[in-house]
Amino acid sequence: MTEDVGRVVVAPSLYAAPLLRIGDAVRAVTDGGADAVHLDVMDGHFVGPISFGNLIVQAVSAATHLPLDAHLMVSNPVSHLPWLADAGVRGVTIHVEAFEGDQIGLIEAVREIRKRGMRAGVALKPATGVHAIAGLVGELDHVLVMTVEPGSSGQPFMRAMLSKVSEVADRFGHDIEVGVDGGINASTAREALDAGARYLVAGSSVFAASIEGVRGAIDALRTSE
Ligand code: DX5
Ligand code: ZN
Repeated sequence: MTEDVGRVVVAPSLYAAPLLRIGDAVRAVTDGGADAVHLDVMDGHFVGPISFGNLIVQAVSAATHLPLDAHLMVSNPVSHLPWLADAGVRGVTIHVEAFEGDQIGLIEAVREIRKRGMRAGVALKPATGVHAIAGLVGELDHVLVMTVEPGSSGQPFMRAMLSKVSEVADRFGHDIEVGVDGGINASTAREALDAGARYLVAGSSVFAASIEGVRGAIDALRTSE
């Protein structure tokens, strides 16, 4: 994620883009003022759907100068790190729940991300409290608070997650970037930013209208600042 903690980062999620126009979608977010591209990698096990893997991520990487942030909704995140590093991904976010309470495994995975030269983050499903990452102070570049259940685009924003955003921001302070993912549009972005988020992942609000509407949707998110 970004080096400048004060700035709001807009990261469109390609998962919500029309799959057969993925190249147009990458161009639209690149030319439309996005700060990063959010890539949802799903394995059909940690979440039901299978989304995309190494070939698509490599192709996206070759098609944009924007930094890529991979959100791994997979049961064995560490096994995916080599190809993500090879693809030139900037940041990797792993789900705490994939470790099923294995704190050592979680810390080792976070360290492995950084060892491979990428920025390390963890994501929290709606039912997971901030206590689950209490042992990661000083180990993280970002925390992604899921504001929907992971696995699909187009779900409504879970307002009850705003207190978790504030709690993460309070506990981890300026050392990390707090992100939100799920149901983010210009209106919910405002609420998330007020609660302390700095990194906005948005899928359907960026792509729902049309590829031609991407720039306007990104602008709308940015002016929610
Ligand atoms: C959900 C993904 C999201 C998704 C967001 O599991 O992590 O990144 O694409 O889509 P919207 O913004 O439509 O909720
Ligand atoms: Zn995501």
